Amino acid sequence: MSDTTPTSKQEAQTLKKEILSLVAKYQKLNWPEEEKSHQPGDFVPYAGRVFDEEELVNLVDASLDFWLTTGRFARQFETEFAAYLSRRYALLCNSGSSANLLAVSALTSYRLKDRQLKPGDEVITVAAGFPTTVAPIVQNRLVPVFIDVDLPTLNADTVYLEEALSNKTRAIILAHTLGNPFDLDAVLAFAEKHNLFVIEDNCDALGSLYKGQLTGSRGDLSTSSFYPAHHITMGEGGCVTTSDPKLKVIVESFRDWGRDCYCDPGKDNTCGKRFGWQLGQLPEGYDHKYIYSHLGYNLKLTDMQAAIGLAQLKKLADFSARRRANFKQLYEGLSQFAEFLVLPQATTGSDPSWFGFPLTIKDDAPFKRRALIEHLEGNNIATRHIFGGNILRQPAFIDVEKRAVGKLENTDRVMNNAFVVGVYPGIKEKTADYMVETFKDFFKKL
Ligand SMILES: Cc1ncc(COP(=O)(O)O)c(C=O)c1O
Repeated sequence: MSDTTPTSKQEAQTLKKEILSLVAKYQKLNWPEEEKSHQPGDFVPYAGRVFDEEELVNLVDASLDFWLTTGRFARQFETEFAAYLSRRYALLCNSGSSANLLAVSALTSYRLKDRQLKPGDEVITVAAGFPTTVAPIVQNRLVPVFIDVDLPTLNADTVYLEEALSNKTRAIILAHTLGNPFDLDAVLAFAEKHNLFVIEDNCDALGSLYKGQLTGSRGDLSTSSFYPAHHITMGEGGCVTTSDPKLKVIVESFRDWGRDCYCDPGKDNTCGKRFGWQLGQLPEGYDHKYIYSHLGYNLKLTDMQAAIGLAQLKKLADFSARRRANFKQLYEGLSQFAEFLVLPQATTGSDPSWFGFPLTIKDDAPFKRRALIEHLEGNNIATRHIFGGNILRQPAFIDVEKRAVGKLENTDRVMNNAFVVGVYPGIKEKTADYMVETFKDFFKKL
């Protein structure tokens, strides 16, 4: 072939450029920036994906690689995400629920020696939250111990921690509820005093600050979700972060079938002695790629998902700013109804990147939550309950072995009286105005 004839590879590269530039054009035409202001009656979702051509270009770019499994985009995302949270390691997986499963399962590894969690050991948590913060405790044959939440912040009331403690307590897993950080200083001090692991479920709180530090950067392990409702999305996706090299290797093993080997997909012999191991009762030299040191899962994600996430990560700071601005606008507009509504309150010393705007109807209000929600939904404003309300009252959790400190009265209050409206970046100023006006209409009619 002469020097002037392009090889098929070069031609393919040129075509790829064309495809990607067409994709960018397509995105702009198909999802034009909605400049028009909100019209009364337009639907106001509580959450949703916000994206531009970068996400679509990355997605197609990854698909043209046809690598399919975890690859170059995932590696880059892990590097950037770990740096964002000032962590040594970020391990991508296919959902926030998987991230929680990995984080809790990791604590059951024999590699942790005397700190290994064994069946029957206890993990402190709360019941006012998302089911898959708690389910991995039960799935690992551990016992959840529930403490009540504090009402304006909706987070674990740390005064109950001492009461929750027993000689079986080994760990704490708590979510930063709807983006509002739990009292990290109190929880971490308690954990240190009693030699407990801490998992921060940061799925709803990416970008939130507690005493100037990002949530998800301090617990032994922290988890993220990249479901479209969350602060950044990959469609489906999750991540576990840690700075502990031992926990990193264990999480990776549970994520990747339980294997002992830690080669990236498509790589062999990263350890340099692939046929030089003798583990378990396997013969000397058994291929390390097929040695399993944990009862693992396969919770990896595809490179297409990671590629979308990389474009989203660049937008996170703007997204968080928009969430904070929407929260402020709603707070200012709704505080006039404080007679009837418990307004959300940021934990002392925190600056949340709110997932939603939670409201709790006061016990003595002259109306029920349902009436207010039906009014909002009737005017096309989406609402959500606070996830499982009181998880202990959910069919799946009634018969599980558990302990609770006290009666969890505020948790029941959340179940009965609380709900959430959106603050996600797709909500602009005019839409937030409409939300406040719609609340006003309801209260006018009381
Ligand atoms: C606090 C919390 N943890 C975990 C999850 C699970 O995340 P995923 O939907 O990605 O499985 C959610 C989901 O919304 C959540 O709100």
